[in-house]
Amino acid sequence: MNRLTLSEQFFRDQASAAASGGLSTVLNRFSLLARMLASEIMRAGFVGKLGYTGTTNVQDENVRALDVISNDTLLQVFENMPMVCGVASEEMEEVHILPGGESGKYIVSVDPLDGSGNVDVAGQMGTIFGIYRRRTMSGVPTLADFLQPGRDLVAAGYVLYGPCTMLIYSAGGPVNGFTLDRSIGTFFLTHPNIQIPEGEGSYSVNEANESKWDDKTKAVVRAFRTQQTKCGKRAARYAGALVGDFHRTLLKGGIYMYPGEVKKPEGKLRLLYENAPLAFLCEKAGGAATDGRQRILDIVPTKLHERTPLYLGSKGDVREAGAMLA
Ligand code: F6P
Ligand code: MN
Repeated sequence: MNRLTLSEQFFRDQASAAASGGLSTVLNRFSLLARMLASEIMRAGFVGKLGYTGTTNVQDENVRALDVISNDTLLQVFENMPMVCGVASEEMEEVHILPGGESGKYIVSVDPLDGSGNVDVAGQMGTIFGIYRRRTMSGVPTLADFLQPGRDLVAAGYVLYGPCTMLIYSAGGPVNGFTLDRSIGTFFLTHPNIQIPEGEGSYSVNEANESKWDDKTKAVVRAFRTQQTKCGKRAARYAGALVGDFHRTLLKGGIYMYPGEVKKPEGKLRLLYENAPLAFLCEKAGGAATDGRQRILDIVPTKLHERTPLYLGSKGDVREAGAMLA
């Protein structure tokens, strides 16, 4: 057995990032969260945990039982973790300050269960996370600690719950991918140093939204659909779970788009929990991420649940989309 385990890789990353302790512990907690949620998702159908709770969340979306379980598990996992002082979650209106963690130097932003629309159909789902160093030096963290641009991420990653469970992350260095061996509950390095391919792959967008787009956006998507792009021919693929669509794009190349709409120019996806962490990973793998005009990682959030349009993937594809939108 010559494969590294996830904890061994965390330890190496921490050493090379000179992160003076703590970071590998935080990353290990995300690995624990991944294993706990993978098990919940696998069993949900047997134990009556599919379907809705009958309530809506801060985003005005219908809440599913697994959304609640995922957020509760996230909070449990970071309880009594003195190096983390606060958690921002897509599922919570306000940030969650961890009691006893005031001196902790990290804050985390998390989409606990991305793509939960796929719960009932055994489709792909995911967890997305970002880790930032807090800015204030002590006491209870403030909102400003959470409103940091993606370029200040210390580490980011996602977990994909599909036929297998994978965890992909970067702590500023290479993007490494790990696959869970369920029989022993350990992640092993299976995809070292992921580089996003150029000139191949798929385009991924919910084309049913076409009537809501402006003319330039329609033209971009039409160019990909009708294979008129300079960057090459692309197949159409859409899983309806951002993590699943991004994972395919990262490994096979191409572009993921969630454009802004005429009546909703900010689009759907959340900057802190979705766009910034995935943009960080995409850039570390040699790709690009913009909102159609500017680099996602340079956008400074003004509020917790800020949304931005998203164009994410191979550099050539994202550049070409950007040029058409300009
Ligand atoms: O978290 C938002 C999300 O569920 C993403 O996972 C997914 O890519 C997107 O929404 C799907 O949105 P739509 O149903 O509008 O295509
Ligand atoms: Mn999501």
